[in-house]
Amino acid sequence: MHFLLSIVAALAGFSAVTAAPNVVKRAGSITAPASGTSIATGDSIPFNYIDSNWCHEGYTPITVWLSDSAPTGLNATGELPEGTYIDYFGEYLIPNFGLGPLPGSTVPPTSLTIPDISGYSAGSPLYLTVVETALAGTCPPGNGVPAQYQFATVSLVVA
Ligand SMILES: *[C@@H]1O[C@H](CO)[C@@H](O)[C@H](O)[C@H]1NC(C)=O
Repeated sequence: MHFLLSIVAALAGFSAVTAAPNVVKRAGSITAPASGTSIATGDSIPFNYIDSNWCHEGYTPITVWLSDSAPTGLNATGELPEGTYIDYFGEYLIPNFGLGPLPGSTVPPTSLTIPDISGYSAGSPLYLTVVETALAGTCPPGNGVPAQYQFATVSLVVA
């Protein structure tokens, strides 16, 4: 009986692995700030995002947002819907494969300045979100492929 159960368990484990869908796209990682970082108005916090670059592009556009609830989705243009965020830090272009910055573009900053969050009480969670974009036409097979978006979020705490 135990023998049979362990075979069933092994088979279940096996099929769980083989049945896993191919992950076509996924967000990258926010490596700074760390989850749980304490923030106050005007603070400068470290920022770093490692892009996923699921389409293997030379450059990856990202946008960075601060909100008081964890985003559950993006709107049709890959942004946090109007009224669901506190601050939009901006759009940046990450060079991949050791490329230099694209002229006229802005690479991601290494720090972000926290806007006025004096309306939030100490201990409130706030969320920093990075939306990564694969531009239209850049993912295989190329022409006609719409833009794709993925986002990563880290939670912060009002000091
Ligand atoms: C998506 O959200 C952004 C920012 O909130 C807004 O400017 C834009 O118009 C929205 N796009 C659509 C298609 O609703």
